[in-house]
Amino acid sequence: MLNIVIFGPPGSGKGTQSENLIKKYGFDHISTGDLLRHEIETNTQLGYLAKQHMDKGELVPDEVVIGMIDSFLDKNVKSKGVIFDGFPRTTDQAKALKEMLASYDTDVAILLDLEVPEDELTKRILERGKTSGRTDDANIETIKNRIAEYNKKTKPVMDFYAAEGKKVVINGVGSVDEIFANLCKAIDAVK
Ligand code: AP5
Repeated sequence: MLNIVIFGPPGSGKGTQSENLIKKYGFDHISTGDLLRHEIETNTQLGYLAKQHMDKGELVPDEVVIGMIDSFLDKNVKSKGVIFDGFPRTTDQAKALKEMLASYDTDVAILLDLEVPEDELTKRILERGKTSGRTDDANIETIKNRIAEYNKKTKPVMDFYAAEGKKVVINGVGSVDEIFANLCKAIDAVK
C-alpha cells in the first residue's frame, strides 16, 4: 500500500489534485473534510459536533477524525495506494496515523506539501465561496481563522515527516496541469 499525504493550507489545491491523482494511479482517497461535510448534510450527531468547529474555521477534535481514518483503513486494507487529503492535521494525528498504518505493516511513503501564498489562498477560497455553499468559505474572518489554525497546529506536521525524510515541497501556484506533473514526478520517485 503506497500511502501519500497531500498537504497544504486551505485552498492550496489538495482536493483538486487528489482527484487527478486518483484517476492516474487508481489510488483510494480519503478527505476528512468531505467526510465531515457528509456527516453534517446527513444530520448525524458527529456532524452536529463537527459543524460547531468548522463554521468557525477551527479544527475538529483529533479523536473524531482519527476514528474516521481507522474505519476507512479497516475497509481498504487491500488498497494499492491511499491519498490522505486533509489528514493528518496535528502532530497527534500524524502519530496516530503511524500507529494505525503499522498495524497493517505499512507507513506513509511521502508528504507532498503544496506551497501557496496567503493572498492567493484567500482569493481562491472567496471565489469558490460564491458557489460552494460551504459556510467556511463565505466570510473573510472564517477564512483567516482557517489559515491561522493551519499555521499554528497543522504546519508542525511537516516537521514530523521532514524528520523521517518524507517531505517534498511542491509549488502550488501555476496551472493545475503543471502542478499535477510535479506531484506525479515526486510520487513516481517513491513508487
Ligand atoms: P477541508 O475540507 O480539508 O478543507 P481545507 O483544508 O480548508 O481545504 P479546501 O477544501 O478549502 O482546499 P484544498 O486545499 O482542498 O483546495 P481545493 O482543491 O479545494 O477541511 C474543512 C474543515 O474540516 C477544516 O477547517 C476543519 O474544521 C475540518 N477538518 C478536516 N479535516 C480535519 C482534520 N484532519 N482534523 C481536524 N479538523 C479537520 O482548491 C481550492 C480552490 O482553488 C478551488 O476553487 C479550486 O478550483 C481552486 N484551485 C485549485 N488549484 C488551483 C490552481 N492551481 N490555480 C488556481 N486555482 C486553483
